[in-house]
Amino acid sequence: MEKTIAVLPGDGIGPEVTRAAVKVLKLIARRYQHEFNFSYGLIGGAAIDALDNPFPKETADACKTADAVLLGAVGGPKWDNNPSELRPEKGLLAIRKHFGLFANLRPVKAVPALLASSPLKEEKAAGVDLMIVRELTGGLYFGEKARTADDAYDTLVYSREEISRIVEQAFELARVRRGKVTSVDKANVLESSRLWREVVEEKKAAYPDVTVEHQLVDSCAMKLITDPSAFDVVVTENMFGDILSDEASVITGSLGMLPSASIRTDGFGLYEPVHGSGPDIAGKGIANPAAAILSAAMMLRYSFGMETEAAAIEEAVQTVLEDGCRTADLAEAEGRSLTTEEWTDKVIEQLDAEA
Ligand code: NAI
Ligand code: MG
Repeated sequence: MEKTIAVLPGDGIGPEVTRAAVKVLKLIARRYQHEFNFSYGLIGGAAIDALDNPFPKETADACKTADAVLLGAVGGPKWDNNPSELRPEKGLLAIRKHFGLFANLRPVKAVPALLASSPLKEEKAAGVDLMIVRELTGGLYFGEKARTADDAYDTLVYSREEISRIVEQAFELARVRRGKVTSVDKANVLESSRLWREVVEEKKAAYPDVTVEHQLVDSCAMKLITDPSAFDVVVTENMFGDILSDEASVITGSLGMLPSASIRTDGFGLYEPVHGSGPDIAGKGIANPAAAILSAAMMLRYSFGMETEAAAIEEAVQTVLEDGCRTADLAEAEGRSLTTEEWTDKVIEQLDAEA
């Protein structure tokens, strides 16, 4: 297959980890006879420095002609005091909004070799394999808001259509995973949650192979800690999803391992590590590229339908970690750690060996 991938390295360790992910993608193209074309664009602080705009038109155009987007990370102390329209994170909000990327996917999967770094007991973290599906373009963060000197309000608005498309996305994902959807809301208090629940109930008829449960957001927050392996796909409103996805992400105990995707129904998507630009380690060549590499694997799976290739990358990452190869963030005190490039080459060697 021929695919065009827009690469937006961004700031700090963003360029270092996206370089690693591109290297892996190039190997996949060679191994599996695909043609991947890469086009590059500026975003975040890098784009502000060059063009006074965190999401310039050139970048939007490069993404528009691509089949998917791979992003590093944006931000850093250099731009912390900029006015709000010249803030790097504006670039992220702008790209999601510009392309209507309404579904944010955050998988959290326990890595057997890294269980000791989980804040949970190893036996609790061991079986975790869940996916938070967060609605990303509506809800509380986008509703009408206002304030006066002494009052302020935000509004949580969802249309039936907005709920339907995110819920369908969750059902489709559950179907190819373990067949379970947990829909999270606050239906005992919020009217928007009652509509949400109603839509989930209507939709489930079309997915007889998927089990559905409804859970209130507060009890879900508890259960993510007490029984995280009970979850498969969790689907929820924008703000609930923001909070729950950060909560779930610490289960694995390693920020450098977590990928994410923001997609829409036609297959176009934005893939990026969950971590930020790591200003404290930027430029040292020691960042863990796993999250970026696993984000590239998600791109293959969700935007290109290349399940075999995606699974091969995920397996290679697991194997390399089981073999004890670690970047500095994961290395044990006495062990030598690998640089970003050395670790990436281990993954590439492993992929070569598997194929
Ligand atoms: P951060 O994720 O950049 O760093 C938190 C800690 O984790 C740091 O000690 C960092 O060195 C470490 N870390 C992160 N990724 C790593 C990796 N791949 N390998 C090894 N260590 C890693 O979050 P922080 O420090 O809160 O924010 C730094 C900057 O990044 C800020 O400007 C923030 O706005 C931005 N940011 C951007 C995000 C994005 O682009 N999606 C998300 C989060 C923060
Ligand atoms: Mg968050």
